[in-house]
Amino acid sequence: MKVGDKIRVFAPATVANVACGFDVLGFAIDKPGDELIMEISAQKGVEIIEIEGDDGVLPRDPKKNSATVAIQDYLDFIDADFGCKIWLKKLMPSGSGLGSSAASAVAGVFAINMLCAEKLNKQELMPFLLNAEKAACDAAIADNVAASLFGGFILVRSYEPLDILQIPVPEDLWCAVIHPHVVVLTKDAREILPKEIPLAHSLRQSANVGGIMVGLLRGDYELIGRSLVDYIAEPYRSKLIPGFYEMKNAAMEAGALGASISGSGPSVFALCHGKEIAHKTGEALQAVMQKMNIKSEVYVSKVNAQGPKVLPLID
Ligand code: HSE
Repeated sequence: MKVGDKIRVFAPATVANVACGFDVLGFAIDKPGDELIMEISAQKGVEIIEIEGDDGVLPRDPKKNSATVAIQDYLDFIDADFGCKIWLKKLMPSGSGLGSSAASAVAGVFAINMLCAEKLNKQELMPFLLNAEKAACDAAIADNVAASLFGGFILVRSYEPLDILQIPVPEDLWCAVIHPHVVVLTKDAREILPKEIPLAHSLRQSANVGGIMVGLLRGDYELIGRSLVDYIAEPYRSKLIPGFYEMKNAAMEAGALGASISGSGPSVFALCHGKEIAHKTGEALQAVMQKMNIKSEVYVSKVNAQGPKVLPLID
């Protein structure tokens, strides 16, 4: 690696929680996501040259931006005597519940690690990503960052020590996600949650996490659907999302296996068996928002198995 070396990468958006797995389940989707270009510089530190597509809302201070926080941690860890410049292209909205800060941070550490000949493995990159999430949304939560970094479906079995498990996904599992144009900040969506939950809810929630794991491993789509129930966050956070239950009903009528809030919202996801049902579900979700005069985008994709990837450089 030498000064002037350059790379262009993409990191995918993610659906965290997946109904029953508050803070412990997540999966990556093919789009949206973030693109990042990085160039190695002689000067130490990380410099943000440009952030495109965020309407100026993201911090330009490298100490506050999730991508640069993660990259700086990486550089400190390897005791680098060089730095880098970055160009970040946001291809997704912030405050959407699609892991926007996570995708930026993953793109950043993935890029620097590739330029450093993959000095660290993915597990070793996780602490930098947790710090970045802490900087971005005041909570060091692993679900979005791990799903974006590893790709596929992940379970955070333990936070201390961090233990991320990758769960195989059945071939024909698709996802429709709608992002209504309503801003919900993760910090606010966490503050409205109760600090304690009833024992009965706890046991139903953990039974459903078990159910979804077995469903994924067996390729049992109906079991995956039956397990997409959330007793912890959805009852409270649904109040922040106009038309949430109408969207959920519309998804089920369109044939989805189940639907809930993506991460801390306002995006809503539905898991589906097959591409056709996923597209139909996406249209049904959007029809609800159109009726309410709320703008939205819909993304339909398989669960993204790859995670971040290198893109060709453009002149
Ligand atoms: N699991 C988090 C939450 C999402 O629901 O608040 C952000 O990582």
